[in-house]
Amino acid sequence: MHEFISKSEEETKAIAREFSASLKGQEVVLIYGPLASGKTVFVKGMASGLGIDEDLVSSPTFTIMNIYTGEKLLFHLDLYRAEEKELDLLGIEDFLGMGVLAVEWGEKAESQPWAEGSIRIRILPQGEERKIIIEK
Ligand SMILES: Nc1ncnc2c1ncn2[C@@H]1O[C@H](COP(=O)(O)OP(=O)(O)OP(=O)(O)O)[C@@H](O)[C@H]1O
Ligand SMILES: [Mg+2]
Repeated sequence: MHEFISKSEEETKAIAREFSASLKGQEVVLIYGPLASGKTVFVKGMASGLGIDEDLVSSPTFTIMNIYTGEKLLFHLDLYRAEEKELDLLGIEDFLGMGVLAVEWGEKAESQPWAEGSIRIRILPQGEERKIIIEK
């Protein structure tokens, strides 16, 4: 387990960049944190660490999954509005192992078989700062 304090969006990206640069390329990463805590910012940093342009990363309200390519592949799930049925329809198992999977609102994926053994990122807002906990 690693703990960091981030004082800015840029610091959060840097923490995420270093984290994802250490990945093999097929991990599942569940991201926890309240609204506007920096989950998408963290995914941008992850993209950058995987050799992907971070500007590709966005979280449109009604899109459940985005796929970004660069040096590696990054699948980005945002489960804020997703229902379990939809999650089943996606068939995540079929592309696991092709790339890194980053999941915003990780709590909604916890009962999925593919979430077992995943890495957890917890973002805890503390005033203007964010505590970021990486649980491997
Ligand atoms: N230390 C910090 N780390 C990350 N973001 C920060 C930090 N301090 C302030 N912010 C701001 O908080 C906001 C985080 O937005 P972001 O979209 O990443 O949150 P989110 O958790 O993905 O939100 P949502 O729940 O809507 O998906 C940004 O506006 C960012 O600039
Ligand atoms: Mg988001």
